[in-house]
Amino acid sequence: MQNNTIVVLISGTGTNLQALIDSQKRYKYQIVAVISNNPKALGIAIAKKHGINNFVVDHRKYQTRELFELAMSEIINSYNPALVVLAGFMRILEPQFISQFNNRLINIHPSLLPKYKGLNTHKRVLRNKDKQHGCTAHLVIPELDCGSNIVQATLDIQEQETEDSLNTRVKKMEYIIYAWCVKMLIQKRITINNKTIFLDSKKLPITGYTVTELSLHTIDDI
Ligand code: GRF
Repeated sequence: MQNNTIVVLISGTGTNLQALIDSQKRYKYQIVAVISNNPKALGIAIAKKHGINNFVVDHRKYQTRELFELAMSEIINSYNPALVVLAGFMRILEPQFISQFNNRLINIHPSLLPKYKGLNTHKRVLRNKDKQHGCTAHLVIPELDCGSNIVQATLDIQEQETEDSLNTRVKKMEYIIYAWCVKMLIQKRITINNKTIFLDSKKLPITGYTVTELSLHTIDDI
């Protein structure tokens, strides 16, 4: 049987984790463990509530980044997951950690990558008076937020838009595209060859597969 297991790494509220949990049955993947570097992450309570194995690996308790990542790797590898899914995981990862999970490590980022890597994306988008914004599920490589795009969801910025309203709208899109991305990778309908992403063997553009806020749910028809 195909390996359909994933391990999710979190640091905070875990709303993406919740969305991934909500889609598990429908999309036929299984969250086998949740790891948080932050002992106070609300996402841990979500994992507990759903009976998912959960671990705190507190980065402050390790002398080096390498030792912290080694502790996480040991947990992850004990599950041999098909995918390692970053969902609001707020630590930068070393190349050595990342290379273990070649093409199996993904992240969700609140911008239309390659635009707005890093933090405070909504603020920067508004300050620059952009007309569009969105989120991207992408592969993780050592350069922050630079791995190939897998899927992107876009929205049109409204006149009265605020950081809060953008946060709400973008997160709603994240929940949908990220679970879909997991499903498609697990089912091997999305594949990666030398940094290029393929959907059903067809090469995707560098934006990844794109949907708009209004056509979000059509990804289920694919
Ligand atoms: C999301 O906005 C995601 O794009 C970013 O971190 C946030 C996590 O939120 N990487 P949550 O913890 O899933 O609520």
